[in-house]
Amino acid sequence: MYKKIGVLTGGGDAPGLNAVIRAAVRTAIGEFGMRCIGIEDSFEGILGETQLRKLTTKTVSGILPRGGTILGTRNKGSFCKIVDGDMVIQEMPIDEALLNLVKNGIEALIVIGGEGTLAIAEEFHKRGFPVIGVPKTIDNDLSATELTFGFMTAIDIATEGLDRLHTTAASHDRVMIMEVMGRNTGWIALHAGLAGSADIILIPEIPFSFDSIVKKVYEREKTGSKFTNIVVAEGAIEVGKDEMYLDNKEMRLGGIGNYIRGRVEEITGKESRCVVLGHLQRGGSPNAFDRMLGTNFGACAVRALASGMKGEMVALRAGQVVNVPLADAIANVKCVSVDGQLVRTGRDIGISFAAPNEDDF
Ligand code: F6P
Repeated sequence: MYKKIGVLTGGGDAPGLNAVIRAAVRTAIGEFGMRCIGIEDSFEGILGETQLRKLTTKTVSGILPRGGTILGTRNKGSFCKIVDGDMVIQEMPIDEALLNLVKNGIEALIVIGGEGTLAIAEEFHKRGFPVIGVPKTIDNDLSATELTFGFMTAIDIATEGLDRLHTTAASHDRVMIMEVMGRNTGWIALHAGLAGSADIILIPEIPFSFDSIVKKVYEREKTGSKFTNIVVAEGAIEVGKDEMYLDNKEMRLGGIGNYIRGRVEEITGKESRCVVLGHLQRGGSPNAFDRMLGTNFGACAVRALASGMKGEMVALRAGQVVNVPLADAIANVKCVSVDGQLVRTGRDIGISFAAPNEDDF
């Protein structure tokens, strides 16, 4: 049994990170008699002078409803670089980090993060260091798990955003466009669009055409609804074009909502407005589901370590937390199925996905 384990959070924050930390610490100490060390600012905390702090049941008390991460996080840091749009993991800092872990008596790691963070965790595993991963992302785009914590809270916020836009859109007879996160997948847009009664949902998996968007706007006009609510995923693409970036070097998606606003206003002459929901989707308190899922993931991750598992990630499948190899967890991005039930349901209730051949569905 390990005597001392480290816990870190990496990548963009997500509501529910503190729930995982709290459950991992309580389980490690209370159930297995381990000591816990919090590593600050992702893997950066095990470089140089190191930023480590003892975690006890007392230090994690009261953090369950708190947003962000008490350990701090970093997006890329010293461990990876973007080269020609791809993430490349650096060797040198891993050597240094492994030395520092041994020096501080840390025998295993719980790594809570998304695709990039888990890819670094996999490198530690390949070097023989025991690691268990916990999947995190509001985008819900990790293929090995049905759900990640943070996603449900993001949908709640996006749904509330749509509800609020609805009343102002209707009062002014405007086209309102709400841009949501999700990287190159449309999970947040699709779920919030259904829950928040969007008229048009634009997701990267279904390239859109302006003809199709405008057709829907005019159809609604004819039936007396002089306003239209559009939810667009940040990675959505117009047919024949690429996704839009705010920052090409850092590969930060964004700008599609404003682009659509301008074009729709130009074509229809209707007043249009765009709201970019941005980091409001990630900040603040997790909802009940994400607190519960984060807690279950945290406890299960420590149980996996204690039972001798290495190089695995906890994942939700058919309502149960199971373990899957880290390598599988980071292999594929999970995209919305264009023939899937939720897209079908959306179309059945009259939502347009603005495909060029939307009428065929
Ligand atoms: O992966 C989570 C996410 O919030 C994406 O939806 C978004 O594209 C990205 O992170 C933004 O990251 P940041 O602004 O922290 O660099």
